[in-house]
Formats: sequence, structure tokens, C-alpha cells
Amino acid sequence: MDVVRSRAELHHALAALPRPLGLVPTMGWLHAGHRSLIARARDECGAVAVSIFVNPRQFDDPADLAKYPRGEARDLALCADAGADLVWVPSVDDVYPPGFDTSVTVDRLTLPLEGAARPGHFAGVSTVVAILFAVVRPDRAYFGEKDGQQLRVIDRMARDLGITEVVRCPTVRERDGLALSSRNVHLGADDRAAAPVIHRALLAGRAAWASGERDAAVIRGRVGDVLATEPRADVEYISCADDATLAELERIEGPAMLSLAVRFGATRLIDNIRLG
Ligand code: PAF
Repeated sequence: MDVVRSRAELHHALAALPRPLGLVPTMGWLHAGHRSLIARARDECGAVAVSIFVNPRQFDDPADLAKYPRGEARDLALCADAGADLVWVPSVDDVYPPGFDTSVTVDRLTLPLEGAARPGHFAGVSTVVAILFAVVRPDRAYFGEKDGQQLRVIDRMARDLGITEVVRCPTVRERDGLALSSRNVHLGADDRAAAPVIHRALLAGRAAWASGERDAAVIRGRVGDVLATEPRADVEYISCADDATLAELERIEGPAMLSLAVRFGATRLIDNIRLG
């Protein structure tokens, strides 16, 4: 496995790789969710590249950026073990060369949910992913469904610009249902024990939908009722939105995304589940 840093090293290494090329973009502190993305790319592509870059432009809070977990040695070990051919670990200047003055924004899809809660976040995400796609030029890129709105925003951008195919991959969960996330490391023992209520709440919403309930307010209510059983859970939003547009629904008449953001102490977790 090659580990490269500058764009020049990257281009040299890319030239030697067979196609199709799969890219797994990451911010490091890799876990079994990332491993599953690399494994899927390994199955479907001739070569697999991983990028590891904690993107400052997608953090709306400098304190959140400062405490984002980092661990290059363990990340590289996981990449090698999972079968990556190439890992790009750029510096901020490699990604945003001096004088950089471009922003890529997706409009309507970024207005609700995480876009409303974290101003500027999605412009940071779509700009860095556009750069990764432009520099690495992968045929396919692999993203997890856990960040449901991010996945839809990146897919929209890639379709609108006619670049890289975006591959949606299932959320990987702990045995107790907690979705894997680099942020889980910040949960103290009590909050970690409480956090699986998120998945139980989403499952309760889905069970109501599966038994025929189509009133989105009732579904959101069921999710809220389960979250309310856990005093450590500080609910930011519960959404039942159209799966494609993310517009909030009154009645569920087609595929929908049931999603939420919940704080446990200082740690903010998001998760979602698909209805239909
Ligand atoms: O999901 C992430 O890890 C990041 O948002 C991404 C897509 C790598 C962009 O920095």
C-alpha cells in the first residue's frame, strides 16, 4: 500500500493503478464502518484509494475541529488490512493551495436538518469532496448511509456536475444498535450506555410505519416517546422527510428518511433509517 502526501506524489501513484478506481473519502479515526466501505470498493473496483483529511472548512465550531480524534498510524494499519492500494494524507495546503477561492454549494438539499443546524457545513463538505473527485478522479466513491443528508448532497453534486458515481453503503452498527461514528469516542461511559436509545427510537418509528401509520407527525411522536425514556438524551430534531428532497412530510406516501440529532453531554450524534 502506497502512502502519499503531495498532489505530485498522488498523481505518480495513481498512474500505476488499474481501473476502475474506487475512492473512500474519510476524515480518519477509522472504524469498522470505513472498513466496510473499503471492502465494498475492493470487491467492485480494480484499485482502491482512501483519503484521510480532517477538513477544516466543514466544521462550524473551532472547538469541534480541535477535538476531532486523530491517529494516522492506526488509520494506515486499518487501510492496509482492509485492502487499500493507496492512501492520500494531504496537508491543508495540498487540498486548498494558497489563493484558493472556490466554494461548491448544493442549494435546496442543504437547507434543512444538518444544514440548518450547522451553517456552512455542507458547503465545506461539497467543496472538499469536489476537490477530492477532481484530483483523484475516481470512477466510484463510497459513502455510508449513516450521514444520510451528506450522502444525498454529495450524490446530487456528483450527478449535477457529471462526475464520479456515488455508491451508497449501509450503516454499520454496534451490537446494541449504536451507529459507528468517529465521534462515539467522545462518549463517557454513562452516555455510551444511553446512546443506543437512538436506534431503538428509529426502530419504533419504523415499526409504526410498517404497521400502516402514514401520518408523519405520529411517526415523529413515536420516535420522541422512546427518546424521552432516556434522560441523558437531549433531542435537537426528529425529522420524517421525503427521501429524495428531504422536505418535511405531513403524510408518508413514498420513500422517506426518518432522522434525528441528539446530544449526549457535549457529543452530538446523528442517525437515520429509511422508510420504504
Ligand atoms: O463523512 C466524512 O468523513 C466527511 O464529511 C467527508 C465526506 C470525508 C468529507 O470531508
